Amino acid sequence: MNPRLDLLHTYPFEKLARLKAGIVPPEGLPHIAMSIGEPQHEPPAFVLETLRQNLHRLGSYPATIGLIELRTSIARWLERRFTLGAGKVHPETMVLPVNGTREALFAFAQAVVGAKPKALVAMPNPFYQIYEGAALLAGAEPYFLNTNAGNGYIPDLDAVPAEIWNRCEMLFLCNPGNPAGATASRQYLEHALELAEKHNFVIAADECYAEIFLDENAPPPSLLQACLATGRDTFQRCMVFHSLSKRSSVPGLRSGFVAGDPAIVSRFLLYRTYHGSAMPVPTQLASVAAWDDDAHAAQNRRLYQEKFARVLPILAPVLDLKRPDGAFYLWPDVGEDDELFTRELFAAQNLTLLPGSYLARESNGENPGRQRVRISLTANVDQCVLAAERIRAFVSERK
Ligand SMILES: Cc1ncc(COP(=O)(O)O)c(C=O)c1O
Repeated sequence: MNPRLDLLHTYPFEKLARLKAGIVPPEGLPHIAMSIGEPQHEPPAFVLETLRQNLHRLGSYPATIGLIELRTSIARWLERRFTLGAGKVHPETMVLPVNGTREALFAFAQAVVGAKPKALVAMPNPFYQIYEGAALLAGAEPYFLNTNAGNGYIPDLDAVPAEIWNRCEMLFLCNPGNPAGATASRQYLEHALELAEKHNFVIAADECYAEIFLDENAPPPSLLQACLATGRDTFQRCMVFHSLSKRSSVPGLRSGFVAGDPAIVSRFLLYRTYHGSAMPVPTQLASVAAWDDDAHAAQNRRLYQEKFARVLPILAPVLDLKRPDGAFYLWPDVGEDDELFTRELFAAQNLTLLPGSYLARESNGENPGRQRVRISLTANVDQCVLAAERIRAFVSERK
């Protein structure tokens, strides 16, 4: 077997299951799961109906490049959502459908890594776990950029020495970020582009939370906007990753896309042709319906905004937390061991969170997830409020 498989870490949810093993939470308190980032809102009926109406199309193999209808819908959505200007995203050469961003983030590293000796893949820390696994299996060394209250939960790119950037083949960015929900500005992204050009690396911008944000007047920017603002009309060295999982609350549909530099898209398409990751045609057509409609995404976002508005006043008096810019998590400092906090909260309140240290690695002498927990606001509004009240009761009792 591939010896690199031994480098993979135990996935956070497996660690969490072990942490909870043997604990019997109080009977009579229904369980509330706030650990997994799985959207729970009702999927849009018109998307499901389009899927149903096209099931007969399962009788033929889909092409890896995807239907031009889908790539066109996606290009138009990108232009609308990020005010890029008509015709800036070419559906024929700049867009590929993927079966959710998870597989695409993983596969992309396999396609990109390999041209530099002693290759590094840089990523935020804490991070979405796939970034690290993808880097390790591709044969690169992960390089962690710690994020904490001091840097506003955004990786400090200027703290990275030039010799590290020279070994870097790819930089993962997550905007808005998971778990802290911080949004990087367009100026920050422009700076990342300068570094990518200077040190010859690719930027993989995971923008799967781009449609979940708290302030309607401040939608998170895309790396593509930073490209155009700096005259990089063909999105040189860039790939953005988007998904319907969060935007349309259809995590089971497995539908997303990548878009960016046509030179990279065409190489990634070659990789994917061999990898065998074409999207089924009914899924593609349901995705067209979803990308073409912005109203349901706005409605979906309002539900998250409502949850933050209801939950934050309950938790703010007892926990050290920041209102995020986007995504659907809270990332408080609990001021004590995060595993202990999670285990005892489960034992007392039948409520599951995720210990922050599971999402981060020790780097520069610290694990930036230590003493933090990730609270996922994916349950419905009433359950989130109930959960916040239970967390508050638990924390108040411990003080
Ligand atoms: C930061 C981040 N990226 C990517 C994904 C994967 O989403 P999907 O594969 O459903 O598009 C997730 C899911 O939780 C995530 O949190």
